[in-house]
Amino acid sequence: MNPSHARILLTGARGMLAADVADALRAAAATDMVLTDRDDLDILDADAVAIAVAGRDLVINCAAFTAVDAAEDEEDVAYAVNAIGPRNLARAAAAAGARMVHISTDYVFAGDATEPYAEDAPMNPVGAYGRTKAAGEAAVRESGADALILRTAYLYGRGGPCFPKTIAKAGRERGALSVVDDQIGQPTWTRDVADFMLRLLAADAPAGTYHATSAGQCSWYDFAKEVVASAGLRDIVSPTDSSGSARKAPRPAWSVLGHTAHEALGIEGIGDWRERWAVAAQEVLA
Ligand SMILES: NC(=O)c1ccc[n+]([C@@H]2O[C@H](COP(=O)([O-])OP(=O)(O)OC[C@H]3O[C@@H](n4cnc5c(N)ncnc54)[C@H](OP(=O)(O)O)[C@@H]3O)[C@@H](O)[C@H]2O)c1
Repeated sequence: MNPSHARILLTGARGMLAADVADALRAAAATDMVLTDRDDLDILDADAVAIAVAGRDLVINCAAFTAVDAAEDEEDVAYAVNAIGPRNLARAAAAAGARMVHISTDYVFAGDATEPYAEDAPMNPVGAYGRTKAAGEAAVRESGADALILRTAYLYGRGGPCFPKTIAKAGRERGALSVVDDQIGQPTWTRDVADFMLRLLAADAPAGTYHATSAGQCSWYDFAKEVVASAGLRDIVSPTDSSGSARKAPRPAWSVLGHTAHEALGIEGIGDWRERWAVAAQEVLA
């Protein structure tokens, strides 16, 4: 699919990832783009969704309930946004014959693996957010829509609050930072997810699940060290473990995602997390 010829609906358009998806689409000469967020199109409203999707060739769902800890107390609200909303969009996309891109997360896995999760590994979330996102994936698959499900993780970008911004700010304000070194993942730039999405669309990748994360792996501590260096701070980060964490939701400890599905199609993935951070840092920390 060539975005420059597609009639596109982007939901959750005020979110962090959506900002870069919209930019990537503009850079790809997309002109017929409808950008919506909760005020214009609440994805829980099935009738409004059907009207918005009719006549569109491509529906990209970046809307989500992303407050991982709050989801533990408000699982029904998170379920509505992360499962019912995607189901509405996917059913409408199927009815309209539109392609759909739905964004999911490494939190659909428990994070107790010892080798990268394959795209078709069974989902086994440990927290409420992950359960609702897994239900969203299932609803999209069951809808019959021609859907690409992109799981991403450890996202950062200029368009929203994210780990590097928090670390750089805290590093400037405090003399020392302790960051957990027992959670391992793949820090991933929103712009890279957007570009990867466009490569999948350009290649007419078959419907299915793809992992939109950087290559390699690291702990939050490793990532924080890179961030403070990029922020021009001296090395003020020390490692700690998450046993004393007061956070409500459990986090997957080892959520490294494998990249077999797109590699088998010859579609270029996202590069190494450290190299990509080096490219992203100035823009994200600006
Ligand atoms: N951030 C991460 O580290 C991360 C990691 C892995 C996967 N993901 C996934 O990546 C995707 C994008 O994440 P993000 O961090 O860019 O999210 P985000 O910044 O929280 O943006 C989500 C957007 O969805 C909107 N929204 C919420 N409920 C809605 C509704 N009922 N109807 C329409 N729009 C609604 C939100 O509006 P309000 O602000 O008004 O609620 C917000 O603008 C999500 O699917 C998320 O699960 C994120």
